[in-house]
Amino acid sequence: MKIALATKNQGKIKEIRSILEGLSVELVSLEELSIEELPPEDGGTFEENALKKARFVAQKSGLPAMADDSGLEVDALDGRPGVYSARYGGTTDKERYLKLLEELKDIPEPKRTARFRCVIALVTPEGEEKTFEGVLEGRITRRPRGKYGFGYDPVFYLPDKGKTLAEMRPEEKNLVSHRARALEKLRAYLSTHPHLT
Ligand code: IMP
Repeated sequence: MKIALATKNQGKIKEIRSILEGLSVELVSLEELSIEELPPEDGGTFEENALKKARFVAQKSGLPAMADDSGLEVDALDGRPGVYSARYGGTTDKERYLKLLEELKDIPEPKRTARFRCVIALVTPEGEEKTFEGVLEGRITRRPRGKYGFGYDPVFYLPDKGKTLAEMRPEEKNLVSHRARALEKLRAYLSTHPHLT
């Protein structure tokens, strides 16, 4: 069975392929489907944004489609940047995480809690819809650390590991990440719903 993948991000495509390996699913890219544009991520929640993209691609392609949306929720900022993580100010990842550190400069350690959240939506052309959520809890550091990853990884600290996400190699991050956790749920669902695969 084929599933269309509603993302243009090559890194995500690679991660999704590797986690879903072993299932009899053929992931079809937007490129292969000649779909050039996705709808804007203007929903108020990760779930709405993921569903919106998956519905669009399911309708266009006639295949079941999956899409994800993710971001960082900082407790001291009442959950911001949240769905606006990619547009939180600045044009580069570095500008964005420095802005975050600046906003949090007076916040003491115990209140620097945050989480990455990822929602994956699976939508069939017939309109069947399902979402899967993965969460990774951590804390915002005072200074960036590490050279791997992207986005807010250098300032997201995992107390259990004693490292930021940017100090973890991709293989290590992919064992614990919010996206990997949501994908594991999707994988479990697909393996018990063979009509989709
Ligand atoms: P999207 O899911 O591609 O829309 O990503 C939203 C934004 O959330 C990204 O541009 C990053 O700023 C942030 N983000 C999502 N996942 C991660 C992650 O694993 N590490 C660091 N930043 C992330």
